Amino acid sequence: MVYDVIVVGSGIAGLMAAIEAKTDTNKVAIITKGNLFKSNSAMASGGINAVLDLEDKVEFESHIEDTFKSSKGLGNRHNITYMCRKASDIIAKLISYGVAFDRDEYGNIAQRAFGGGKHNRTCYVGDKTGSAIIQALIKKAKEVGIKFFINTYVLNLATNERKISGVIALRRIDSTVLVYSAKSVVLAGGGYAGIFRGNSTNAQDYTGDLLAVCLRARLTLRDMEFIQFHPTGIAKTNYLVTEAARGEGGYLVNSDGERFIDELETRDKIAKAILEQQNNDKKVFIDLRHLSLEKIQKKLPSLYSVALNQTGIDISEELLEIKPVAHYSMGGVEVKNMVESEIKGLYICGEMAANGIHGANRLGGNSLLEGTVFGELAGQKALKYSLENGHEIIDYNLVIKDIKNIDKIFMGETSKNFNAIRVSLGNSMFKYVGIIRSKESLVKAFDYAKYLRNQSYSLHCINKEKRNNVELSSILELRNALEVSEAVILGAKKRKESRGAHHRDDYPETKEKYENHILIKEIQKGYFKVELEDKSFLTKFRNLFINKE
Ligand code: FUM
Repeated sequence: MVYDVIVVGSGIAGLMAAIEAKTDTNKVAIITKGNLFKSNSAMASGGINAVLDLEDKVEFESHIEDTFKSSKGLGNRHNITYMCRKASDIIAKLISYGVAFDRDEYGNIAQRAFGGGKHNRTCYVGDKTGSAIIQALIKKAKEVGIKFFINTYVLNLATNERKISGVIALRRIDSTVLVYSAKSVVLAGGGYAGIFRGNSTNAQDYTGDLLAVCLRARLTLRDMEFIQFHPTGIAKTNYLVTEAARGEGGYLVNSDGERFIDELETRDKIAKAILEQQNNDKKVFIDLRHLSLEKIQKKLPSLYSVALNQTGIDISEELLEIKPVAHYSMGGVEVKNMVESEIKGLYICGEMAANGIHGANRLGGNSLLEGTVFGELAGQKALKYSLENGHEIIDYNLVIKDIKNIDKIFMGETSKNFNAIRVSLGNSMFKYVGIIRSKESLVKAFDYAKYLRNQSYSLHCINKEKRNNVELSSILELRNALEVSEAVILGAKKRKESRGAHHRDDYPETKEKYENHILIKEIQKGYFKVELEDKSFLTKFRNLFINKE
């Protein structure tokens, strides 16, 4: 298993990275633990932001401004400018790969409104934008000869003297631990909003695995406390009711039929307003009845059929009950120069990277853009590195450690149920580390996560069958989710203020002192170092006044 470049993750960032890293002669592989068509990118339905005419300085500056404003002082203006400037080229590239964006009556790419944006800049394919892009990228990746290892679960990084040598992974079909050697590696494994299991739009297997892998590799996590709660999940099932539903004119109403917020406010404000309604014993609904059935079926076809199938509600005639749910994680692994990690030859992009785009709050429609733009860049840098460097040696002690760990999980006996622990973790995270937090709630969450973490070490497979053992990966995922949850809680405890998506009841104001990143490292298993970065005066000055690269 020797490759030039390995990409971990098959969402939008991973696919873009792999396509960029491929040449006619090199060997590039994508490793992914799950189903290619089921990434969070595929589920991001509403659209991708782009100012298509870069000559239009006002529009271009306003995309930068809206993104920076939404980050609440924690965005990096240089990186935001880079992303916004790349957006129209990225749309052109996606079209060349076969993405058929919706067009207006003049044949121009149609753009809809999304929250927090001054102008309509969200390009879309009905309400299936993410999945349309993913399908085109998978097709392109196969055409250019990228090898796919699906059902393959990355356990740890292989490094030699802080240089990447590959990844150690579990082949789930037969529970074998293998090493995939590469000159450079791109991690694009998505975020960690799935740790709020049962209260999240994310698929069940979004457990922040690669963030835990990075913690174990002594990389730094940044701003983990910033979780975006999407205002509108279907109340019964958590399924995402796309922001496009509000962008196309949908209202939010309470049980008294009253509208209570501007539906195109940023997600943090809407989620909080909905929570206040719920705390006053009011239910909240999305009202699309004033849009015609024809418009709904044209612009929101997936939502129409999902609402009908999952809840029996015809949204053209009835209200659909919604609730806020964990959707996206703004925190992640700290990167320098937009995609570079502290380990040479290792690049990080997409939702798992803390690259200064979203800061304390992400604008809807910017995630697909960020994934494509920085996936592209990570792929280009990984290719360059692989051309200039050879393979590093593999430290087989690391591999043996993983093999022993897997054997241990198979060997012992247990009476505990991993599924029950995962559900309790999700509920505890939502209750105590949700839209509103306090010292008291965070201490409860931390103690509980620690307790669950200890419990998780005594979990073993009840079924000892090596073929496709779901229990085995679920136990590994749970341990990762617990490690990441502790980092989220510690970040939230350290941030004694309210900013963007992080709201503390005991510290409701935003404080100048905290216009800085919170950095977390795991010094040894279970022990974290948490610090508030002291951003230099120069960085603050650049962010305030320097707009251009
Ligand atoms: O609401 C949505 O369609 C989600 C889009 C996004 O997360 O950017």
